[in-house]
Amino acid sequence: MTRLDDLQLPVILVGAMTKDRVIGQGDGMPWDIPEEYHTFIDNIRGQTVIMGRKSYEEFGPDLTSDHAIVVSRGTPDVEVPVVDSMEKALELARSYGVKIFVAGGSQIYELALPHADWMFLSEIREDYEGDKYFPNFDRSQWEVAREDEHARFIYREWKRVN
Ligand SMILES: NC(=O)c1ccc[n+]([C@@H]2O[C@H](COP(=O)([O-])OP(=O)(O)OC[C@H]3O[C@@H](n4cnc5c(N)ncnc54)[C@H](OP(=O)(O)O)[C@@H]3O)[C@@H](O)[C@H]2O)c1
Repeated sequence: MTRLDDLQLPVILVGAMTKDRVIGQGDGMPWDIPEEYHTFIDNIRGQTVIMGRKSYEEFGPDLTSDHAIVVSRGTPDVEVPVVDSMEKALELARSYGVKIFVAGGSQIYELALPHADWMFLSEIREDYEGDKYFPNFDRSQWEVAREDEHARFIYREWKRVN
């Protein structure tokens, strides 16, 4: 693959978090906001989604993507490809030729952040307790290219600028 091909297939982190970057509590999400979830489902429709093994166990059945890839050190019993590194996940994802979304959880966002061109993040207005977090990113390296206000969240598309 050439560098140009890489640029044509952006890597996009997608998810929802509180102002304190909480994304999860235990194995689940601390909120139930259907409008936000539909934003996620619409974004990934027809594209590729990379997920950690734990998040795939939670969301796998709901995915509207054409392709899913699970990152695991083991051999989980799933019906989609399993790879043991983010680099292998991205290589396989590029071969599918559609947008590459990385949809969590916490461990997988951390691995993918250095590779990300975009982040499509919903900021949940209400505070929630949790024990899983989105990585702390350097805001000087990102700018907001789109922002939509919703009743319970603000949806932003962040583009890497540095
Ligand atoms: N708010 C949101 O938008 C959002 C989105 C997604 C998930 N979540 C939340 O995030 C939480 C789950 O996140 P999590 O961090 O616990 O789990 P995760 O990132 O979904 O999955 C973790 C698993 O990924 C595999 N893994 C991690 N690092 C690896 C590496 N370097 N190489 C190979 N495999 C690796 C391991 O699988 P094995 O154990 O199989 O080896 C590990 O157990 C849940 O609370 C979920 O609800 C929130």
